[in-house]
Amino acid sequence: MKFFADTADVAAIRALADQGLLDGVTTNPTLIHKSGRRFVEVVAEIAQAVPGPVSAEVIAADHETMMAEAEVLRRIAPNVAIKVPLTPDGLRTCRALTGDGTMVNVTLCFSANQALLAAKAGATFISPFVGRHDDVGFDGMALIRDIRLIYDNYGFATQILVASVRHPVHVLEAAKIGADVMTAPPSVINALFNHPLTDRGIDSFNADWAKTGQRIL
Ligand code: E4P
Repeated sequence: MKFFADTADVAAIRALADQGLLDGVTTNPTLIHKSGRRFVEVVAEIAQAVPGPVSAEVIAADHETMMAEAEVLRRIAPNVAIKVPLTPDGLRTCRALTGDGTMVNVTLCFSANQALLAAKAGATFISPFVGRHDDVGFDGMALIRDIRLIYDNYGFATQILVASVRHPVHVLEAAKIGADVMTAPPSVINALFNHPLTDRGIDSFNADWAKTGQRIL
């Protein structure tokens, strides 16, 4: 499963990239606002720091303006993936952009039927939001299971990008289902390292090593 960082914080992205853990980045208007930076400038910096896909979202609601915005965004770098909403205009834009060889991430997916539409529109990625789905009392992971089943039934190449990931169990479940990608805040990716027995094991090995009086270097 590929790991994308769901952030526009360039320092956090670089730190994950340095660990060799990062396959791409997703941003959205909220994350850009949080960064306090100019959209095009921060996407350019991220696209240089990470060789994989970097999602940048259009704001317009109509196809023509979405295309014009996508034109600006895809000129930033070849690894920019255009993020479009799951609306009729968004999917029309998706079809036009993928036809040109541009990567498209269809966002704000909350049903398996929506994911089916995105795949038929040739989306590179479909982003079902599991956390927001859980928030309103639905089972976000059941949605991922349904999309996996449908895509496998028909051999759709669209990659399932599990989004709105809130905690390590979401990552675990996404991997068990066979999602292609998950995008999570850096804090969640870093939390995957945590286990109290790992910490306890390191402490006891260090204590016993000190008793040997030896050094490796
Ligand atoms: C996905 O691409 C979105 O940016 C993101 O995962 C949304 O997450 P949130 O529900 O935590 O805002």
